[in-house]
Amino acid sequence: MPRRPPSRPDVDPARLDTLTQIEAALWRELGRAAQASEHPWRVAVLATRDGERADARSVVLREVEVGKRRLVVYTDARSTKVRQIEAHPEGVIVMWSQALSWQLRLAVRLEVASSGLSVSSRWARLKMTPAAQDYLSPLPPGSTIEHPLPERGSREFFALIVAHVQSIDWLELHAEGQRRAAFDARGARWLVP
Ligand SMILES: Cc1cc2nc3c(=O)[nH]c(=O)nc-3n(C[C@H](O)[C@H](O)[C@H](O)COP(=O)(O)O)c2cc1C
Repeated sequence: MPRRPPSRPDVDPARLDTLTQIEAALWRELGRAAQASEHPWRVAVLATRDGERADARSVVLREVEVGKRRLVVYTDARSTKVRQIEAHPEGVIVMWSQALSWQLRLAVRLEVASSGLSVSSRWARLKMTPAAQDYLSPLPPGSTIEHPLPERGSREFFALIVAHVQSIDWLELHAEGQRRAAFDARGARWLVP
């Protein structure tokens, strides 16, 4: 049978019956999302805490390590979210796929890496691409500037955000009834949607 392109869901159209099947399928889709720019989970919302306030923004899912239950996002080391994560490492990542009719809410422990081999090896690949300019601004993200297009500097401020998945809240919208399940250290269980 031909493999589906990575941007299309790999899930059998017949509804998955068991929690084990659903958990395996959602991790498989997460892995595919990091590979395909068109996958609906490729751009996710990352929510963080800023003191007593909530904050959230879109981020691109760059890598998924299924075995380690880790997701990787690239960012500017000077960004506000990095400061927030250093003070409060708890976050939530939210994704929605119309094709799957699945929402994921991942409760994550966030970690920032801005030096070391994990950063330099990825920067070595990225610096040759147009995306490198996202990490080369001479001023920190969010700085007020005179003109809308910032200049490009020569020093990079590239960092990784590693999201360690602690628990998953899965919600499926379906004409025959919504289903919801939790996957965490207590195991897998059905929830009232
Ligand atoms: C589609 C899309 C994808 C984005 N991906 C990233 C990303 O992967 N990393 C990132 O730092 N910012 C990304 N951004 C920009 C963030 O949403 C945000 O505007 C910026 O990082 C500043 O956020 P902060 O002030 O909370 O740090 C993306 C924005 C959009 C619209």
